[in-house]
Amino acid sequence: MESKFLFFFVISSFPFLSSFTQAYDFPLPPLAKGLSWTFYSSSCPNLEIIVRNRLFNAFKTDIGLAAGLVRIHFHDCFVQGCEGSVLLDGTPSAPGEQKALPNQTLRPRAIQLIEEIRSEVERSCGRVVSCSDIATLAARDSVLLKKKIESNIFHPDNQSGGLYYPVPLGRRDGLTYATEQTVLNNLPSPFSNVTTLITSFASKNLDVTDLVALSGAHTFGIGHCPAFTPRLYPTTDPTMDESFASRLRVTCPKTDSPNSTPLDVRTPDAFDNKYYVNLKNRQGLFTSDQGLQNDARTRGIVNQFATDQMAFFERFVVGMVKMGQLGVLTGNQGEIRRRCGVRNSVGGSLGSVVREDVKVSAV
Ligand SMILES: *[C@@H]1O[C@H](CO)[C@@H](O)[C@H](O)[C@H]1NC(C)=O
Ligand SMILES: *[C@@H]1O[C@H](CO)[C@@H](O)[C@H](O)[C@H]1NC(C)=O
Ligand SMILES: *[C@@H]1O[C@H](CO)[C@@H](O)[C@H](O)[C@H]1NC(C)=O
Repeated sequence: MESKFLFFFVISSFPFLSSFTQAYDFPLPPLAKGLSWTFYSSSCPNLEIIVRNRLFNAFKTDIGLAAGLVRIHFHDCFVQGCEGSVLLDGTPSAPGEQKALPNQTLRPRAIQLIEEIRSEVERSCGRVVSCSDIATLAARDSVLLKKKIESNIFHPDNQSGGLYYPVPLGRRDGLTYATEQTVLNNLPSPFSNVTTLITSFASKNLDVTDLVALSGAHTFGIGHCPAFTPRLYPTTDPTMDESFASRLRVTCPKTDSPNSTPLDVRTPDAFDNKYYVNLKNRQGLFTSDQGLQNDARTRGIVNQFATDQMAFFERFVVGMVKMGQLGVLTGNQGEIRRRCGVRNSVGGSLGSVVREDVKVSAV
């Protein structure tokens, strides 16, 4: 059942992906039942262009949204499967998933952006595309567009560019969101050790290589002080480079300083393999990052990705496609939401809730 797909470095003039220089094949994971590579090709042929254009414009004013959208997709898939439950507004008596982790909540603007894209897609195609599919495409395009936005220099030999990969589509939206306890049980935290991370990923049928590859999403985005200051105070984590620690103490003079710092100290904005080079230099930000270098079960994979960016890209794509198919609803299951924040049967009766500021989690 393994399908082979061409995997491209996109060097076209955005947004029309017209030319490629380097292409190679590798096997992608099998499709989940009910998903397809061409699901909307007749019902919404412009879907991918609409998503990409909208993101391109949004990223021009707030490039931090890219990491935020990857984070939303990860949270969505790890908690109850990729069925858009993370997008649902909660109520005061039953808080939504976005409220569940006070330290790790999601970026409101990114959630709003998914709804804006949904609305534009509906104007173009009718109500045929699920919020969970839009969130999945938005995560892929965040990886694709990130660097493209910041620079028009996009040479094929310059691997600080973006990544394009095909996304299976046909997800339907779920009807319920998870309780706080379910969210806590399913999402690894920045404080997790490798054993906890491996167990968490294994419970989703994601293997150790998926764990290391998907952690590479920390090649962009930011971390907030409370997520790593336990490694600085009262004493420096012995697995952290001392000069790196000194700089972090300037950023975070107190454990709960409201500041943030790039997850990838070398190339904060590029989608590249420098995250793994950081780990080899004891400059991973979170316990959940640096642990990957320190543990014998993951170190070899870190070494490989640190020296072979292609290997990282390839395994990142495999990991994203696997993760993006976790617990999907297809066929007649679930629904196509009218609004991403509200399930259809309760209409507009739930008011929108104020969301917490952005924080990050382990992956
Ligand atoms: C790669 O692109 C970046 C900007 O995106 C530029 O600063 C850098 O010089 C380029 N490197 C090469 C080898 O072209
Ligand atoms: C990893 O973390 C878990 C949960 O906090 C803990 O029970 C376990 O002892 C830790 N394992 C190691 C090897 O530190
Ligand atoms: C939130 O951060 C604090 C430290 O600032 C930590 O003690 C607590 O365990 C964190 N909670 C979660 C759910 O990660």
